[in-house]
Amino acid sequence: MKERLTRIEAEALAAIAAAATREALEAARIKYMGRKGIVAEIMKKMDGVPPDQRREVGTLANEVKSRITGALDGRLKGLSSGGGSGQRRDIDITLPGARRAIGNIHPITKTIDEICGIFVSLGFSIVEGPEIETEHYNFEALNIPKDHPSTDAFDTFFLEGHKKLLRSQTSTVQIRVMEQRKPPLKIIAPGAVYRPDATDASHSFQFHQVEGLLVDKKVAFAELKGALEIFVRQMFGKQIKTRFRPHFFPFTEPSAEVDVSCIICSGKGCRVCSGKGWLEVLGAGMVNPAVFEAVGYDPKKYTGFAFGMGVERLAMLKFGITDIRMF
Ligand code: PHE
Repeated sequence: MKERLTRIEAEALAAIAAAATREALEAARIKYMGRKGIVAEIMKKMDGVPPDQRREVGTLANEVKSRITGALDGRLKGLSSGGGSGQRRDIDITLPGARRAIGNIHPITKTIDEICGIFVSLGFSIVEGPEIETEHYNFEALNIPKDHPSTDAFDTFFLEGHKKLLRSQTSTVQIRVMEQRKPPLKIIAPGAVYRPDATDASHSFQFHQVEGLLVDKKVAFAELKGALEIFVRQMFGKQIKTRFRPHFFPFTEPSAEVDVSCIICSGKGCRVCSGKGWLEVLGAGMVNPAVFEAVGYDPKKYTGFAFGMGVERLAMLKFGITDIRMF
């Protein structure tokens, strides 16, 4: 009896180790440990064991059972994790694994994408220009004379003496595009700009703008208003109001600063809008004829509008970010 038990154990353990699939393992379980299995059958024969040996044989039988059960459990785990020789056929291990996305889209990128998406839906196309520029593109062609006080508003980092500079506005791209293409034009230009401002909660030496330019025959100020109102409503919601305040930019005439009703307090007045109920979000105007002349467009034939907005400012309002340094 003892020998039979030992032999059965050896057979069972070998069968379990050889089981290459869950099905084969289940078959081995039924064969040895099932209700009518080999171990159950042998237990029935306990009656025939002489009384003086029963205790010893009973203990051995229990040990054999628990070792077989342990082996079955262990093998099942091995098969589930696809380990050992028992490869599962329902998993194609040659397929690439499911990769988990790392990180998230930066709020600045998200905001640029959203702004550009709105203007693309209005028929604008996206262009880009270099961050290292010349005075021609950053100032002169934009009707900002050198040594004129208006250059102060676009305080600039100069490189290589005064030959090159880091652009202080994306308006440079207006000139680059007009030099290369004939009207009609409908473009937006996102990108980084640089100004040597002291850093605080709302100023940074580097920030981002999205520039817009439309040139065609008989473009009216009403179209500028319409385009920007659609933009503001899509960006911040239908309930947001827009206000145009007269302003000065050398490259547009007339020019305006555009305010939106405060997104935080709905215009009632709060800390974010300094109690005014309005937030300045962009500069805009009709393209100055002097700019058209600088790029060789006939100002009698063409009119157009341009606008520029600060991305960080819009992102801060949209996401409730209170300090530009968090970007
Ligand atoms: N370039 C201006 C600025 O940086 C914004 C602007 C762009 C104003 C286009 C009018 C037209 O402040």
